[in-house]
Amino acid sequence: MTQTPSPPSAGPTDAPAPGASETEVTLVILGASGDLTHRLLLPGLGTLLNTTGRYRITLIGAAVDELSAEAWAERVRSALASAGTKQARAGDVLARTRYVRLDVTDPAAIGPFASQLPADSVLYFALPPAITLRACEALVGVPLPAGLKLALEKPFGTSRATAQAANELLVRLVPERQIFRVDHFLGKATVLNLLGLRFTNRVLQPVWNAEHIESVQIVVDEALALEGRAGYYDRNGALKDMVQSHLLLVLALCAMEEVSTLDEREVRDLVVHTLRATQLWTGDPVTSSRRARYVAGRVGQREIPSYVDEEGVDPSRSTETLAEIDLRIETGRWAGVKFTLRSGKALGDERNAITVVFKPVPHVPTGFTGEAARNVLSIGMKPQTIALRLSTNGAGDKFDLEETVLAEDLGDSELRPYGEILEFLFAGDPLLSVRGDIAEECWRIVEPVLTAWAEDRVPLEEYRAGSAGPLAYA
Ligand code: BG6
Repeated sequence: MTQTPSPPSAGPTDAPAPGASETEVTLVILGASGDLTHRLLLPGLGTLLNTTGRYRITLIGAAVDELSAEAWAERVRSALASAGTKQARAGDVLARTRYVRLDVTDPAAIGPFASQLPADSVLYFALPPAITLRACEALVGVPLPAGLKLALEKPFGTSRATAQAANELLVRLVPERQIFRVDHFLGKATVLNLLGLRFTNRVLQPVWNAEHIESVQIVVDEALALEGRAGYYDRNGALKDMVQSHLLLVLALCAMEEVSTLDEREVRDLVVHTLRATQLWTGDPVTSSRRARYVAGRVGQREIPSYVDEEGVDPSRSTETLAEIDLRIETGRWAGVKFTLRSGKALGDERNAITVVFKPVPHVPTGFTGEAARNVLSIGMKPQTIALRLSTNGAGDKFDLEETVLAEDLGDSELRPYGEILEFLFAGDPLLSVRGDIAEECWRIVEPVLTAWAEDRVPLEEYRAGSAGPLAYA
């Protein structure tokens, strides 16, 4: 596998050259007291600081909560420690960090706050999307610092129209190149390395098309259940939480046309090109989608209550905890190939992989017994693995066909996905961020499904927590 492309100035693991100065970055986290900051963002920052000495971070936490300087510092310390951040690096951040109590939706508060930030600061909205939008509205007309970068968490909008409106609002604040719609799947090494795998291997590059590939499955089946996230999850469900964002982006990287460089414009142009050609498999959401919800069961040692009995869940919303859609891509490269995207919670068999199933060879020589196994390439996103299934006639009867799997564990990256995302953000390279038109296109693809589900035209199936999912695909 290739390495993740480096942001413009230097590689992710490069320390500054002797005598070279560090780049000063002011990172403002709005929603700093929240779970995302503590669980993902700061630990990701910690892994970035461990791998590069290039950045000198001034971290400003902001939120509506009353928080003492000590309490904030303690949160930062524990979040950095959870990612094994080297003491010197963590100490450096702690020496300069501060917390500001701020109502981000109040123009009289956020306006003056944002306008006095140094040039090239990063304003990271680790907030629910509705609050983020209100904060952005409050920033319209404010003289913002030159080079200010805005980072926004998913979900970006709730429909194509709202995503479009949000895009229009954001470009009133800063140019598109300074808007970073975050999707941490793009920070996963195996996801971006799809490009390296596809375009730098002679054995794959020429066969990556409908002539040789039969189907592709992109599946994230999680053992995790609701984990106390009803406030967010019950209003979104599996389709919006996982498929509309993460899995469609993985699909695009998997299916896009060949890039000539890893320049952000080139890559993102081809991503949106592929998404524009993507349609529901049959064109009908009823026959191209499935949804299901878990009922009580046991995942490993844990007893899981029925989803509808989880605290904070409103059963009348009929939120799905598993979503599956079948897609086609209307290009010569992919005509007739079915792409299935699925993600579910509280499942017994965890799976987190892109599976590419090849067509059979046109002729198996007469004389062989047994079936020639299909070639299957499986790219694990978590853990990071790669496996290729081959048909062989080896051990035992030499005419009997069997299958052999070549498998490799790629190990964990030192940099967590959020560290990767932050590195590109600090460098001002939007390669790993979701461009506005890409976000809108992802909504366009799933919208007919959302409508059919809201109108109850697709049955809401049930599966037992800890099982393999609804019977039909178990
Ligand atoms: C998040 C979703 O974006 O991605 C979660 O909100 C999901 O529901 C998570 O569990 C999966 O990401 P990862 O990196 O843990 O596989």
